[in-house]
Amino acid sequence: MNIQTSQKLSAFAHDTIAGLINHNKFLHPKYFYDATGSRIFEKIMRMPEYYLTDCEYHIFDQQSESICEALANGHSAIDLVELGPGDGLKSRLLLHVLIQRHTPLNYLPVDISKHAVDELVKDLHKDFPSLKIEPKAGDYFDVIKNMQGSNGRSKAVLFLGSNIGNFFPQERKAFLKQLREFTSSGDKVLIGFDLKKSPKVILDAYDDPQGYTRDFNINHLVRINRELDADFDIPEFEHHAVYEPVTGTAKSFLVSRKEQKVNIRGTGHTIKFKKWESIFMELSQKFDLDDIEKMAMEGGFVVKKNFTDSKNYFADSLWERK
Ligand code: AVJ
Repeated sequence: MNIQTSQKLSAFAHDTIAGLINHNKFLHPKYFYDATGSRIFEKIMRMPEYYLTDCEYHIFDQQSESICEALANGHSAIDLVELGPGDGLKSRLLLHVLIQRHTPLNYLPVDISKHAVDELVKDLHKDFPSLKIEPKAGDYFDVIKNMQGSNGRSKAVLFLGSNIGNFFPQERKAFLKQLREFTSSGDKVLIGFDLKKSPKVILDAYDDPQGYTRDFNINHLVRINRELDADFDIPEFEHHAVYEPVTGTAKSFLVSRKEQKVNIRGTGHTIKFKKWESIFMELSQKFDLDDIEKMAMEGGFVVKKNFTDSKNYFADSLWERK
């Protein structure tokens, strides 16, 4: 079967094959999050080495009033759109403040996992019975495209957790371009960025002694084996994480300890691995405040304020659409 001509392949199948037939093999991080992957990611967020979640939670916990002030900015009604809310623990802190201030509010969580948004909506209904929620399941890019067409309300878009770090520079540009098209002048976006810091601290977050990060990566292969009827010899892959302080890139790889031929029966492809050949599994880009400033400017936004934690490990950067 030729990947270019096959219309029947799912996006997952298509993207998986495209990555594995590439000279330098890679997989798309958005497919980590099946039910098991989401469960492992929750374990990652709770482990002490993964400082990102705690730092961002503290920022929200301690500065939710100022964040809401800046987000709502005197506007009467807002559509609060959140890309990848996960368990919504951080956005809950904002919702609480906005509701207390009687800000007329629609909350629109967008997640790739239908299961995740459904659970979130159920939970939020319990805590905020009057909140209007319009959940969307799907890829951010697709959902944002289909949500276009301004309804006259101002928007605030949340993209937290350093999810932006998963994009390659070109994807990041494309994403910001879409974000610009999606928003109108004066609208706000709040983006979570993991900041450059001691390489040791960063590396430990992606190479934990419990092996959860390894399990997270391995589960991606398990998912391919299951959903695309493939036969990766999974115990023969080892997890390897690197951090490059000059560029701020943390990357993780799965490396094949042996030569192997993987049959992906669901698509009809066979993928060959040389001994010690790797799959690039994920980019987790780290930034500094100048990087953020530049990115905002190039995207047609202005940085209004950076909310940081006491250690300066993480920044939630509040931008206004020009
Ligand atoms: C959810 C993309 C922010 O890159 O830090 C955590 C995912 N991968 N440990 C990150 C992840 C391995 C995480 N993001």
